[in-house]
Amino acid sequence: MTAESPKNVVVLGATGSIGTSTLDIIARHPDKFKVLAISGHRNVEKLAEIADKFKPRFVVVSDENQYKQLTHLINDDCTILAGATELNTICQLVSADLIVAGIVGSAGMQPVLASVEAGKTLLLANKEALVLAGELVMKAAKDKGATIIPLDSEHNAIYQCLPDSYQCGNTPKNLDKIILTASGGPFWKKAVSTFSQITPEQACAHPNWDMGRKISVDSATLMNKGLEIIEAHWLFNLNEKDIDVHVHPQSIVHSMVCYQDGSVLAQLGEPDMRIPIANGLGMPERITSGANMLDLLQSQDLQFFPPDYQKFPCLALAKEAIKAGGTSMAVLNAANEISVDAFLNNLIPFTSIAKINAEIMTNATVSQVENVTQLLQLDEEVRAHAREMVKKHV
Ligand SMILES: NC(=O)c1ccc[n+]([C@@H]2O[C@H](COP(=O)([O-])OP(=O)(O)OC[C@H]3O[C@@H](n4cnc5c(N)ncnc54)[C@H](OP(=O)(O)O)[C@@H]3O)[C@@H](O)[C@H]2O)c1
Repeated sequence: MTAESPKNVVVLGATGSIGTSTLDIIARHPDKFKVLAISGHRNVEKLAEIADKFKPRFVVVSDENQYKQLTHLINDDCTILAGATELNTICQLVSADLIVAGIVGSAGMQPVLASVEAGKTLLLANKEALVLAGELVMKAAKDKGATIIPLDSEHNAIYQCLPDSYQCGNTPKNLDKIILTASGGPFWKKAVSTFSQITPEQACAHPNWDMGRKISVDSATLMNKGLEIIEAHWLFNLNEKDIDVHVHPQSIVHSMVCYQDGSVLAQLGEPDMRIPIANGLGMPERITSGANMLDLLQSQDLQFFPPDYQKFPCLALAKEAIKAGGTSMAVLNAANEISVDAFLNNLIPFTSIAKINAEIMTNATVSQVENVTQLLQLDEEVRAHAREMVKKHV
């Protein structure tokens, strides 16, 4: 009997938080995984360090301006590629077995689409790709026989509570509803009257999870949960009314599936992204992740609260976007990327994130989603509009 050869993994966004957790697991299992290709955008020092440690055959730096510097930093014998379109190239390599989508924002959409169009197994963390182009991604995955395994902890929890035969894109059988849990972020108990004073550093200091800056701000506004409702809508083919949110400050129960017979299945674990990532990488086996084992005897009480849609209007915006359908989710995503970026750069107060997103949603015309070109054009238009709005909110 011959030992199975390691799976070739492409890590998109290798320099980020998801990328780092993924590489940590891969390093624990050299017999199971080999890094075939990695990507980074601007952090070329880290990209070169990763290349040196994992010896991938391909390294992509999506910001072309960083190419020259990267070539000076990499000594290994690998192919260095520059530019966003090369992300698609590494996703479609014949020898690629698993693609980990860890790019932040809508920049992750095209490589996600390229992966499913090539019929690959996609381990999806980049929620914005689904928010922007969920309809196209899920259709291409079905047409090309691609497998999508969600890495976002809540969606991975739901996935783990569904039958082994379940494939994303189908409505789960015998379901009553799903419940996404939300930590509530750093401000769910804070008085709303103080929200305008919140700084980017406070917003990025998440009580339970250590994440990139954009998703940390999204968690603080609860837009992250809104984006996750949209993500769940596409992944599990559910209506927004079948997706509930419970605020669960301990982040131990990662989400739940309620079946028609009254059974509620939940997935529990320490708040450590290596758990869902190891689940996706190891599937159908269970592999070690390096995360601590949950000890319920040592845990605090597990609490659950209803979300406050008035205090966190971004959550309601996401539900409205699903109801409106078509391009409205893409509009919300683009508006939010610009407003969050403006907040992180100290251009607008925290409270203006929701205001800009809401104003753009109110004025948007909803069309049917037709193709990528249409979505990219819309994305650019909404971003330009949002940048103008940022100037008014300064
Ligand atoms: N972190 C978490 O715990 C977590 C949990 C669930 C879901 N997610 C989702 O996973 C995704 C990644 O989040 P993260 O926290 O890992 O973000 P992050 O730490 O900010 O990392 C983002 C990665 O994307 C790359 N990148 C940034 N802009 C890019 C562009 N325009 N084109 C191509 N690549 C670009 C970055 O490259 P450089 O650093 O080299 O510039 C980096 O590798 C997000 O969609 C997030 O919502 C994250």
